[in-house]
Amino acid sequence: MGYNVAIDGPAGAGKSTIAKLVAKEKGYIYVDTGAMYRAMAVHFLNKGIAPEDTQGIIDACEDAFVSIKYEDGVQQVYLNGENVTSMLREERVGNMASLSSAVPQVRQKLLELQRGLAEKEDVIMDGRDIGTNILPHADVKIYLTASVVTRAKRRYDELKEKGIDCDYDEIAHDIEERDRRDMNRETAPLKQAKDAILVDSSEMTIEEVVAEITRHCR
Ligand code: C5P
Repeated sequence: MGYNVAIDGPAGAGKSTIAKLVAKEKGYIYVDTGAMYRAMAVHFLNKGIAPEDTQGIIDACEDAFVSIKYEDGVQQVYLNGENVTSMLREERVGNMASLSSAVPQVRQKLLELQRGLAEKEDVIMDGRDIGTNILPHADVKIYLTASVVTRAKRRYDELKEKGIDCDYDEIAHDIEERDRRDMNRETAPLKQAKDAILVDSSEMTIEEVVAEITRHCR
């Protein structure tokens, strides 16, 4: 059995940035489960399925196989044997992932992959339902959050930095919408596990958040 750190929280709380740094410091493998939902989303988009077409999504689960490999310690996601990692951050993919991840059959597809990795390796796994559902016996559970204003501001700065034109209010609205969907869905909604440590990063630097989390790890 690997040593397991679960890190859950809303979109834009900085889970992946933090988890990568903790993984490096502690020698864990970083598992990004959002990327797996995004790979499933690529499959649905490739098939021309609309995000609202639940039955189409369920049917398309039949021939979707997601797997991951590590190249120089970086997670690569494969969809039916093809490396789709470079497509995962596209806006349309994120949007499809946010909607299709509410479908139980989609979650079922990824459950074994996620549990199997945690069983074999020392991992820090980030997502929405890792501490509550995927790894209920994780050694450490973190619920990482930040205010909507902070998350929207970070995203805005990140896009501006890349020279991408964007609107703060639109970003904030988008974040609220994703929170609402993730927290209110019927299957595996986002919530803090009873035994999770709450870390609100609104007023913290990256270094402070990493220090706070590693303090709880073996
Ligand atoms: O974290 P990320 O934004 O990459 O996740 C993409 C989408 O996948 C999220 O909007 C969320 O709805 C879904 N997701 C999930 N369960 C996870 C990880 C992600 O439902 N464990």
